[in-house]
Amino acid sequence: MTNRHAEARQKLVEAIGQDGIAVIPAAHEVVRNYDVMHQFRQDSAFFYLTGFEEPESVAVIAPGHDDGDFHLFVRPKDPDLEVWTGIRAGTQGAKEAYGADAAYELSQLDDVLERMMIGREVLWYTTGNDKFDDRVTGIVNKARAHRERMGGVVPSIVRDVSVPIGEMMLFKSEDEADALRRACHLSADGHIEAMKFTEPGMYEYQVQAALEYPWRLGGSARNGYPSIVASGANACVLHYDTNRDQIGDDDLVLIDAAAEVEGYSSDITRTYPATGSFTGPQRAIYEVVLASQKAGVELSVSGSTMKAIHDECTRILAEGMVDLGLLPGPTDQVLAMHHYSQFYMHSTGHWLGLDVHDRGAYRIDGVSRPLEPGMALTVEPGLYVGPDKAQVELTMLEFDPEERNERIIRMGRAAAQASIAEEKASAEKVTHDVPAEFLGIGVRIEDDILITPDGHENMTESVPKELADVEAMCAESSELPVF
Ligand code: GLY
Ligand code: MN
Ligand code: MN
Repeated sequence: MTNRHAEARQKLVEAIGQDGIAVIPAAHEVVRNYDVMHQFRQDSAFFYLTGFEEPESVAVIAPGHDDGDFHLFVRPKDPDLEVWTGIRAGTQGAKEAYGADAAYELSQLDDVLERMMIGREVLWYTTGNDKFDDRVTGIVNKARAHRERMGGVVPSIVRDVSVPIGEMMLFKSEDEADALRRACHLSADGHIEAMKFTEPGMYEYQVQAALEYPWRLGGSARNGYPSIVASGANACVLHYDTNRDQIGDDDLVLIDAAAEVEGYSSDITRTYPATGSFTGPQRAIYEVVLASQKAGVELSVSGSTMKAIHDECTRILAEGMVDLGLLPGPTDQVLAMHHYSQFYMHSTGHWLGLDVHDRGAYRIDGVSRPLEPGMALTVEPGLYVGPDKAQVELTMLEFDPEERNERIIRMGRAAAQASIAEEKASAEKVTHDVPAEFLGIGVRIEDDILITPDGHENMTESVPKELADVEAMCAESSELPVF
């Protein structure tokens, strides 16, 4: 376990070199109500480099430092507080259990970090951290005052450390891939349990209990993100997670949920009928999404791109929308004018790892980067016919994302958005009646893909997604108690 983090630190040492110093703060606790905190989750970049799960800590990577590269600032031991909130590693634990070359109490941060900055040109730090920016700025200012008195070098350049860390996190080592794979397999078990367990009349949170039961029993202490258990039209709310409605007779249930293992999160979506049998309209929508998702998975190989996957998935969805009468067509127009976004409004995938939406650049020099072995991504097209979509208004205006980007660069975001809004307002509009039988149906199918040298590994393929396989799994019974 420590080796995984030591390897990550070594990569960062090589990325920033001896004239750099990287400062990476941990996450802070957040009050839930009064004196109760939200469950703490460590910042993923900090965890990647340290494996240390205590809040408020600060990791400093100073390549070539006399005491070693890895310095950890931690909360002090406090026996009275530890009775209430748990054991703290303290400075000794930071060194012995987490491999810090030097460890300090947080109260020493200002003085020690100021000294460590001397002789370094580049501070690697991600600005925008409202709990920490002022502190770092204060320390740099003190180091600069020192330089004015004593001469020498202190950081005059600030670079975003999330860039090299994101690039490192994007490529999973064998060991990381193994943790991610275990998260995927365990998450898959939960989805299968939920399919077996669900009956109309249950509450969404009861299905959530069945979904998450195998995860806790199987060794996952927490979810990768809040479970979405969305019945009926709730499936058309992309981040629905209240999970409190009662499941209706003919409802589909969309579950987007996954477990976390050793910090790595899976991300699976399946959509299945509560009764165990798809209705005709549900089947029709599901078939379109399934064809799109399978094409996207097929394209997930080395050398392909996220954009190629998204474009192909979207093309198949758009064709389906025209075939089903959701849009008037033709498909070329649906694509060129982005009319499909009435029913498909998100992108088709994202990187996957310690963060469910993992770090790492999607484009290089403005172009979707080629997939490479070791990258992990999701493929998750969907089609959402909200209950309010009985009639849609379509703007007859070409939507060219490259031209939009170019306009934003040229005019600035606010002015570009205003000019786009003006064009839209004056463009011709067409209204279209959506067949009523599709209203309130939302379907998404999502798998987790690891790119390999000769193709890919679909780490979540054990959860059924073919129509007949889904129905067969729903027909099986769960052994969990029903109250
Ligand atoms: N579960 C969040 C997502 O699918 O991106
Ligand atoms: Mn998801
Ligand atoms: Mn996802």
